[in-house]
Amino acid sequence: MNETYLIDTHSHINMVENISTDEVIKNALSAGVKKIIVPASSTNDIDDVFELSQKYEDIYCYLGIHPEEAKDWDDGILNKIREYSASPKVVGIGEIGLDYYWDKSYVELQKEIFIKQIQLGNELNLPLNIHDREAHKDTFDILKEYNKNSKVIMHCFSGSPEFAIECIKEGWYIALGGVVTFKNAKKMKEVAKIVPLEKLLLETDAPYLTPTPHRGEENQPAYVRFTAEEISKIKEISLEELAKQTTLNAEKILNI
Ligand code: NI
Repeated sequence: MNETYLIDTHSHINMVENISTDEVIKNALSAGVKKIIVPASSTNDIDDVFELSQKYEDIYCYLGIHPEEAKDWDDGILNKIREYSASPKVVGIGEIGLDYYWDKSYVELQKEIFIKQIQLGNELNLPLNIHDREAHKDTFDILKEYNKNSKVIMHCFSGSPEFAIECIKEGWYIALGGVVTFKNAKKMKEVAKIVPLEKLLLETDAPYLTPTPHRGEENQPAYVRFTAEEISKIKEISLEELAKQTTLNAEKILNI
């Protein structure tokens, strides 16, 4: 009953290469990380992450298409997600959003499929797990205009403290990952400080963005603990309190 544990709310464990899924889960459990949410990103891995969620008790998934995969979109994906969403292990639509970092040549297409997936989340009444890379204003404007009833999680939040405040005013949640542990990540430490505990979620985005002291290695859900420790120091609260509240937030938002 009083067990405190962590939840990794965004982790591509299907992309972890150096260890098996069984080891990923074993390591997570020994680090006190009990539940893991695996986002789909491409048309190819929707089936894979759904299968993972069916196979393992403490694994859940978000289904959707990452903006960088926008060119592979076809409307059949909507029906596939509708069918899979009958499972309670499908806890959101994601990761979806906008990414202006690499290639801006298909921004309009990114926006179009972002909107379609927001509407799907609204139809299914599922939370949205949002990828926003160097596209803060457009992401914000589109969500504000099109999202009617879905809860919003800003995955791997990368904006300013001011932008975090704007998102919180909309009732959205801020998910922080390993970047907050980097020594020179002043902006993210400031974000961690100002985001109210009730609006905060933890994640790894494994296999990417590995927190200190494992930087340079492949990331895994167990390492969400380092992010939690850093944020608890920044917020001057115990790890226990941070774990309790962020876990409660995730369980409430995702209905898990
Ligand atoms: Ni991701």
